[in-house]
Amino acid sequence: MDRYFQLDEHIIHLNHAAVAPWPVVTRDAVIAFANENMTIGSRHYDLWMKTEQQLKQRLLQLINAETTDEIAILKNTSEGLSLIAQGLSFSEGENIVIPAQEFPSNKVVWQALQTQGVEVREVDIQDADDPEQALLDAMDKHTRLLSCSSVQFARGLRLDLAVIGQACKQNATLFCVDAIQSLGAIEFDVQACHADFVVADGHKWMCAPEGTALFYCRKEIQPSLQLRQYGWHMLKDAFDFTHRHSGIQIADNAQRFESGSPNMMGIAALNASLGLLIDIGLEKIQSQVLQNSAYLFDRLWALPGIKILTPTTENRYAGIVTFKNERLDNVMLYEHLQASNVLCAFRGDGIRFSPHFHTPVDIMDRALNIVLDFAG
Ligand SMILES: Cc1ncc(COP(=O)(O)O)c(C=O)c1O
Repeated sequence: MDRYFQLDEHIIHLNHAAVAPWPVVTRDAVIAFANENMTIGSRHYDLWMKTEQQLKQRLLQLINAETTDEIAILKNTSEGLSLIAQGLSFSEGENIVIPAQEFPSNKVVWQALQTQGVEVREVDIQDADDPEQALLDAMDKHTRLLSCSSVQFARGLRLDLAVIGQACKQNATLFCVDAIQSLGAIEFDVQACHADFVVADGHKWMCAPEGTALFYCRKEIQPSLQLRQYGWHMLKDAFDFTHRHSGIQIADNAQRFESGSPNMMGIAALNASLGLLIDIGLEKIQSQVLQNSAYLFDRLWALPGIKILTPTTENRYAGIVTFKNERLDNVMLYEHLQASNVLCAFRGDGIRFSPHFHTPVDIMDRALNIVLDFAG
């Protein structure tokens, strides 16, 4: 797997749940795009548009969407979630259900609606025996939307989205998934889980730069999502700059959510990263990601004082492994890891390791040895 990435030998990169390193193909795509812009400018804009379409096709494949008409490319997860929150026109007395442990982006967009009389129900799922049921128990007939991450960012709990999606469907509740901690690492099926919205930036497990994100919106819901930003690119006939048609005609697919010029450089990069992941095989990647997490569990269990905070039962974890040493100050341990060139994060009261499919075992071993040595 090393041939796809060229990480510096001194770097111990276990931080894909934060910001991933780019593969060689992505670096090459960005350099090629820069060179092209420098030498011939936008001479081949038509080809850039083809890349944009190819990326949508690859995103479709990644989440098993029915059609690229349901896929827009936005800036980031927060933008996508905001577009939903601001577009749905909530009424007073309606409520939204979210896990209490969500990343701030998937909380603040809903909390901002509280001034309109919308109730946000935050459900503690961290220690729940049945986290899906805990969420569903918080729903009632006034629940307009349930939003959750597919994999919790801090401790890596993986939710059974099909169970939640099925219940939402029965309750006529919209289902929104922040899939940033899944896509590129573990398989995702938007049809099987009945999600109405799926949002994910590309800079984590998809191994692309920050600032280019998937926004999926089920076809039937698109017209009911009020538009809050406007521009030329979202028009049905986007390249008819003479406005031959009378009135504003908004595209009747997800392009309606892409107001202005696309981020063509980000698109070139994400397209290259996803091309690589698809070539390697998403199933194979998932299997290696899960194997790496299981390897970390096994090694961590054997270390004195270590408590694993990530659920270790099958189907309950993905690529995130969070742990703490109960015998010492974990902030100090984290700082020591950082100082030792181990890229990881301090999340959910513990140290979060997040190796990807390409992370060699000896890289994980080097990090674990530093954890062991620090305990003395
Ligand atoms: C679950 C989750 N959602 C969203 C984000 C980031 O959102 P954005 O793409 O808006 O930066 C993160 C980043 O850590 C995350 O873990």
